[in-house]
Amino acid sequence: MCGIVGYIGGRQAQDVLISGLAKLEYRGYDSAGVAIREQGGVIDVRKKAGKLVNLASELQATPLPGTLGIGHTRWATHGLPNDTNAHPHASEDGRIVIIHNGIIENYLPLKAELIARGHEFRSETDSEVLVHLIEEKYAGTPGDLYEAVRLALGEVRGAYGIVVTHADHREIVAARTVSPMVMGVGEGEMFLASDVPALLPYTREMVFLHDGDMVVLHDDGFRVTDLAGNAVQRQIEHIDWDAEAAEKGGYDSYMLKEIYEQPTALTNTLIGRLHDDTGEVNLDIGLDPASFKRISIIACGTAYYAGMVGEYLIEQLARIPVDIDVASEYRYRDPLVSEQTLAIVVSQSGETIDTLEALREAKKGGARTLGIINAKGSSITREVDDTLYIHAGPEIGVASTKAYTSMVSAMLLLALWLGRARGTLGGEQARELLHAARELPRLVEAALAPERVARIQEIAEKYAHASDYLFLGRGVNSPTAYEGALKLKEISYIHAEAYPAGEMKHGPIALIDEDLPVVVVATESRLLEKTISNVQEVRARKGKVIALLSDGDTENAQHADDVIYVPRAHEMVSPVVNAVAMQLLAYFTATALGKDVDKPRNLAKSVTVE
Ligand code: F6R
Repeated sequence: MCGIVGYIGGRQAQDVLISGLAKLEYRGYDSAGVAIREQGGVIDVRKKAGKLVNLASELQATPLPGTLGIGHTRWATHGLPNDTNAHPHASEDGRIVIIHNGIIENYLPLKAELIARGHEFRSETDSEVLVHLIEEKYAGTPGDLYEAVRLALGEVRGAYGIVVTHADHREIVAARTVSPMVMGVGEGEMFLASDVPALLPYTREMVFLHDGDMVVLHDDGFRVTDLAGNAVQRQIEHIDWDAEAAEKGGYDSYMLKEIYEQPTALTNTLIGRLHDDTGEVNLDIGLDPASFKRISIIACGTAYYAGMVGEYLIEQLARIPVDIDVASEYRYRDPLVSEQTLAIVVSQSGETIDTLEALREAKKGGARTLGIINAKGSSITREVDDTLYIHAGPEIGVASTKAYTSMVSAMLLLALWLGRARGTLGGEQARELLHAARELPRLVEAALAPERVARIQEIAEKYAHASDYLFLGRGVNSPTAYEGALKLKEISYIHAEAYPAGEMKHGPIALIDEDLPVVVVATESRLLEKTISNVQEVRARKGKVIALLSDGDTENAQHADDVIYVPRAHEMVSPVVNAVAMQLLAYFTATALGKDVDKPRNLAKSVTVE
């Protein structure tokens, strides 16, 4: 989520870093910093809380000369957004500097060990352990920065894009796992960035680093290895995207880019929070889980559907009564609230006025409050008692995709945390669910395999001219049906309705005829047989069934006109995997109809009017 830029060559590094960081501003930031190596081998660090302009104007007034530098815009995960916690972080002697994107999961034990060995920490960040570890390893190598970084990374668990330099070396060493990184290749100069737009003004020859790659940059070239030190070949690609295409990462739309970002977004939601060995979840929130007797979930739109999944999961795992409200209704229905109520507001933007006002209403009644939020520092985060960030990264497409799956995953984390703390969830079941949660990024990656995407596109195109759609699902996947219908409505303008599958016979069944496609979420679950009975009811009335089935379910495929197979997942986490198929179905229907998916008519990304 943070922005990274690195430069080595003949230009003044400061200019390249600031212009590159400015291009990454859309990723969000709360502080920024640079480290620049002067000709004589001294490294100067300058960092500032707040917007990039704070740092840029300081550098303009007193520039830092030098042709090698690294720069960072931070979106805080551990530690407040202030000057000290801003990157780069320097070693105690000031000769090694690092910048880091991501989260080091095992930073607490590493930090304790480093402190025991005499290291003094200055910031509250997880990233600072990296610079101390590298410093130790460097003393042992000695003089081999690449080797020191490689050995240090061998001890950390988590996600990182890390960039390091040393006063004694004219080189930059970098590595990535999960966090993205791209290298720019120039004539006698080399660049690094967390995203392509930062490099476009300087070069179009780029190397996309893969997970587990390490790279050493010199003025006139680079070498890539894996974390074991083996040489790796990476192609230089010519990128001819314009600035807008670069922000979309080469995809046709932000929405499609964000759909494909889901494995990374989910990793960021989950990382550092799951402890498989103990079956515990660490959410870093101050709420006392024993102090409330009731939960109210409040949200709008897609966030509301994520809340519906939360209602199901929390009641199942933590055995607390949960009610859920659309924020615009909650606000005016004079809700029953007490000090024993926990109000959970869910919002991607953190700015939705209905949700914000509903939060104020809950507070008026004495409720404790928790936000499940994507946008750092947004209005809601300033008014809740605690925030559980989903860390999905900036979402630009108006139709929410990666924020939804990250919100649902955050709901699962919360349900697990509450269940463990309140003693309603045993260790064995908790470990099983933690394992299922850990699998999510891989399962979503599998759900995005080209052959699956192509199949969904085919089905979407086959039914694109339908005037109405019906979506059905049960239990924890009834919100999946609602979310599927909302996505389709929003971007294709096809009328779509969603119902819990068992409710269909109480009215909507009258709509069914041979022109009505009915999407049924029928993946592995306790209630699958009942859902299949509903499928048969649709078929008997000549409705066209598009069934979402778990891989390998050939038996139920016979009841459907078209089947979308999704990777098998534990029922409790299946809404995340199933949502991806829904997003793709809506996306390809809209593109088949020639609609602008990123800017659907009449909609806004952040709804700040009532
Ligand atoms: C749907 C969508 C909207 C938002 C809703 C709430 O794709 O994006 O329904 O989910 O406006 O927005 P946030 O989550 O920002 O409060």
